[in-house]
Amino acid sequence: MPYIKNLIKGPIGVFDSGYGGLTILKEIRKALPEYDYLYLGDNARTPYGTRSFEVVYEFTLEAVVRLFEMGCPLVILACNTASAKALRSIQQNDLPYLDDSRRVLGVIRPTAESIGNASKSRHVGILATSGTIRSESYPMEIKKLFPDITVSGVACPMWVPLVENKEYDSDGADFFVKKYIDELLNKDKYIDTIVLGCTHYPLLIDKIREFTPEGINIITQGEYVASSLKDYLNRHNEIASRCTKKGRCEFLTTESVEKFKESASIFLHEDVDVRSITLE
Ligand code: DGL
Repeated sequence: MPYIKNLIKGPIGVFDSGYGGLTILKEIRKALPEYDYLYLGDNARTPYGTRSFEVVYEFTLEAVVRLFEMGCPLVILACNTASAKALRSIQQNDLPYLDDSRRVLGVIRPTAESIGNASKSRHVGILATSGTIRSESYPMEIKKLFPDITVSGVACPMWVPLVENKEYDSDGADFFVKKYIDELLNKDKYIDTIVLGCTHYPLLIDKIREFTPEGINIITQGEYVASSLKDYLNRHNEIASRCTKKGRCEFLTTESVEKFKESASIFLHEDVDVRSITLE
């Protein structure tokens, strides 16, 4: 993989398999509007959630390398599946070769940190992609921080396709949203907090609220990831000083520009400046 180290300044890279990372980007931009952002959605190869460890790692590494090539000193994997399956390998094995002055961060740790104060019953449910659930990343991170919490998880393989195909308000969405929530609550009836452990899921939030019994907290990740990033940049001036600050935001997709523009405008409520690229 051709790659040349450099110390130039650039935007913060935000990566997801598709549109889900926009829910994270939105909150990050709210918390840190002064920075520049470069969002990359691998829409042509979404979903990642049902793919093997090797494939998710390979695709994620390609995206990180591309965002580095485009000058990003810091890349946020705004995707739980990529955070679960690729983050550690990239941080430990690839960064030292690619450029050890840059950083790649994920979304699972900041989300796990938020759970301690949220659950009174100490029974927490995770809804995520099959890949994230199989990786056991959430139970492991939560147990490290809060050993008294019982964690149950259910994979929701139909939710990402519903979002990517803008079917979030259909009868199909009713059926599949209810199905996975019921499955989770049947696993553990004491759950008082449900974590949406996939960045696509906030786009189904109205349906999720409709089918979740009252009194159960629903945790979305955006705000936690944004405040954790703010804290990170305050503590790491060597990275923060290399992130440019003109308040700009650009978008890259591996699918067609028109398709991305249309959906991103719906999710972000603004027109977006998009370029199409191929990853390899
Ligand atoms: N949005 C991603 C996540 O947070 C992945 C969805 C997918 O591609 O399956 O897990």
